[in-house]
Amino acid sequence: MADIVVKTVNLTKEYVIGIRKKTRVLALDHLDIEINKGETFGLLGPNGSGKTTTLKLLLDFISPSQGQGWVLGKRLGNIEAKNRIGYLSEVSYLYSYLTAWELLDFCGSLFGIASIERKRRIDKILDLVGLAEKAHVRLSSYSKGMLQRAALAQTLINDPDLLLLDEPTSGLDPIGQREMRDVFLKLREQGKTLFLCSHQLSEAELICDRIGILHKGRLSKIGKLDDLLTMKHAVKIKATNIDKETNDKLNKIIEISIVEDEADKGMLEISLDEHLVNDVIDVLRSNNSRILSIMPTKRSLEEIFVEAVEN
Ligand SMILES: Nc1ncnc2c1ncn2[C@@H]1O[C@H](COP(=O)(O)OP(=O)(O)OP(=O)(O)O)[C@@H](O)[C@H]1O
Ligand SMILES: [Mg+2]
Repeated sequence: MADIVVKTVNLTKEYVIGIRKKTRVLALDHLDIEINKGETFGLLGPNGSGKTTTLKLLLDFISPSQGQGWVLGKRLGNIEAKNRIGYLSEVSYLYSYLTAWELLDFCGSLFGIASIERKRRIDKILDLVGLAEKAHVRLSSYSKGMLQRAALAQTLINDPDLLLLDEPTSGLDPIGQREMRDVFLKLREQGKTLFLCSHQLSEAELICDRIGILHKGRLSKIGKLDDLLTMKHAVKIKATNIDKETNDKLNKIIEISIVEDEADKGMLEISLDEHLVNDVIDVLRSNNSRILSIMPTKRSLEEIFVEAVEN
């Protein structure tokens, strides 16, 4: 279990709303996951699918209705483990009259970090998140992107091993999203484990090693991003210089349509089952066509997400 940073078994949360007439909401339904040290894991899902509930359970902000979980090898709620977590919540409320430096200094003192060590860490963290130059400017004058990076900086003051990030780039423009992503990649290089909740599929695709898709509290898919995106037994071939004779021969193996325009005369791009690949390549080579690429066919994360949610 040493290398497993987060583990849940049957973790379930049912909210009960109302005093007289009670309504039950099953927010998380028997979640089983294991996240390894150094991994960047993305928990994806539509609104209301249970992502924030999962984080709140891992943080021991709320108690499970059923099941159990471990963080950094300790049972949920263990203080020692909590001290090694950094949490960026969905909505950050920062004291706008403080500067980023003062904010981090305040948070560091809450962790009981000595003043000299705090100073050393603050300079390093502000540099990492790209706020060194604005360190002594009040947060009230920060842009949304800068505020989000300040919030992220705050989560790093205790030098956490595990980062729980809830929709960290929501509402940011493409540049702001990229700046945040760059920081995540640097944190990953430092060996930290990142647990990211998001519905921004492109972001997950760019930084996650593994993803899980939640739908109505149930984990409907989990796996390595590469494995999920690669279609089994399907290959994509791209070739050019396809003349009429080659076209006819290929059509006997698989139905194709050649794209003809001025730039790409006789360009072929097909996805086919892997057992046909050798035959197609033989035809292309014997007719002097130029093979540009042969690659496993990839699906988009959006297709996988929609499939998981619709199923
Ligand atoms: N405190 C609460 N009391 C009652 N129901 C709640 C509470 N918090 C969340 N829920 C319900 O639990 C379900 C899961 O909510 P949760 O906030 O975990 O979803 P989410 O995936 O984080 O959604 P979003 O993408 O909108 O942030 C929803 O149906 C929500 O209405
Ligand atoms: Mg949420």
